[in-house]
Amino acid sequence: MRSTAETVVDVRGVVSRFGDNLVLDGVDLTIGADEIVALVGGSGSGKTTLMRHIIGLSRPVAGEIFLFGEPLWAGDYLEQQARRRRFGVLFQQGALFSALNVGDNIAFPLRELKVVREKEVRELVAYKLSMVELEPEHALLMPAELSGGMIKRVALARALALEPELLLLDEPTSGLDPERSVAFVHLIRRLQRQLGITVVLVTHDVATLNALAGRVAVLADRRVISAVSLEETRKVRHPFIERFFQY
Ligand SMILES: Nc1ncnc2c1ncn2[C@@H]1O[C@H](COP(=O)(O)OP(=O)(O)OP(=O)(O)O)[C@@H](O)[C@H]1O
Ligand SMILES: [Mg+2]
Repeated sequence: MRSTAETVVDVRGVVSRFGDNLVLDGVDLTIGADEIVALVGGSGSGKTTLMRHIIGLSRPVAGEIFLFGEPLWAGDYLEQQARRRRFGVLFQQGALFSALNVGDNIAFPLRELKVVREKEVRELVAYKLSMVELEPEHALLMPAELSGGMIKRVALARALALEPELLLLDEPTSGLDPERSVAFVHLIRRLQRQLGITVVLVTHDVATLNALAGRVAVLADRRVISAVSLEETRKVRHPFIERFFQY
């Protein structure tokens, strides 16, 4: 069942620290269904940290997070696991399991959550590969045999394995040359439209922002200082934003 809730991600007053290092201090961010929101901010500003909070990988020291209208930490193990199936993640680092071939990488979330029978897994893997414009034969390749662009595509296929309503992508185009980067962004946009999913994407890349449109959430001074359209963001007077768009 698809959620009918308007708000997919609701972050309220989130505070996060590592020892003495206060990283986030009162982050608010609301993301609606079918939106593409780009999260930008300087290196070390806490983008990955915020993403890890949103998916429940780490718990903020204060504040609340609601996913699909429910408090993130609510419910028993089974309820949390059910919520876990509703989002897919592409991490900044360690995109694929190096010891597993492409097919087994994509199948991993399906097997882990035992959502389909083993004989259906192979079919689904082929289908997910086609979604990211790869061929069924690619299932047998090992990650070390793939190009950077292919690794990103396979990681995206894996993030899409459970047909998520929410997709979180941390620097999906980092390490790609500009041409591959543009192709990957187009792929994300096409999938977002086709599947009607909500996308939260961390990026440093102005070209990626231009191609994806949607809203831009700017993380600076330990908060989300603005979350408006790209055009509106360019008008915000803040040193980080001015520097960001200078290039
Ligand atoms: N597990 C951790 N233990 C200690 N400090 C951490 C940990 N994870 C992140 N930090 C610190 O928190 C701050 C924010 O890190 P984070 O990875 O969220 O930044 P980021 O915005 O994603 O940066 P980048 O653009 O370089 O990926 C940094 O100062 C970092 O050193
Ligand atoms: Mg990061």
